Amino acid sequence: MLKSYSKWLLPLIVGATVVGTLGIFYWLPSLGIINHSQTITSNSKSITTASVWDKVTESYSGTREITVYRSPSCGCCGEWVKHMQKHGFKITDIKTEDMKAIKQKYNLPQNLASCHTAIIDGYVMEGHIPADDVKRFLKQKPKFAGLAVPGMPLGTPGMESGNRKQPFVIAAFNQKGEIQVFKEYQSY
Ligand code: CU
Ligand code: CU
Repeated sequence: MLKSYSKWLLPLIVGATVVGTLGIFYWLPSLGIINHSQTITSNSKSITTASVWDKVTESYSGTREITVYRSPSCGCCGEWVKHMQKHGFKITDIKTEDMKAIKQKYNLPQNLASCHTAIIDGYVMEGHIPADDVKRFLKQKPKFAGLAVPGMPLGTPGMESGNRKQPFVIAAFNQKGEIQVFKEYQSY
């Protein structure tokens, strides 16, 4: 009697354990009670994939020489430099601790400030502006002093962070500090 009892009890315990384990790993996550797949997703998010900004969409035969002023400790500035190089711009890289002085020198409206400040064709390019928008602006040779992406929105060139993409605006400004929207990115 005892022998035959343990004969089916053991497989039952093993079976229940297997089902129970599968339940914890597959059923509970599906209910959102535990979420181990989230860990996998967030891990893969941290892997930098090819940026949407790498693609060249604007034909351009203008000036390629651009001077970039940036703090030596600014990582995202270096990433923006790489982005511009991918688009064929030749960078004169000037590292300075006094970025405030540079922004004042070029009359950048304070509310448009970002990290790095670049000069091309006499125009000011402030912050993480996509290379193709720089080209489009320069082709138009507008009566503005320059362009700016204020702050450092996530997802802009040099500020890529997986799938995190904040909407952002490229502002054009003149010497009087008047500001106009040059381009708006709601999604990209
Ligand atoms: Cu930055
Ligand atoms: Cu920067």
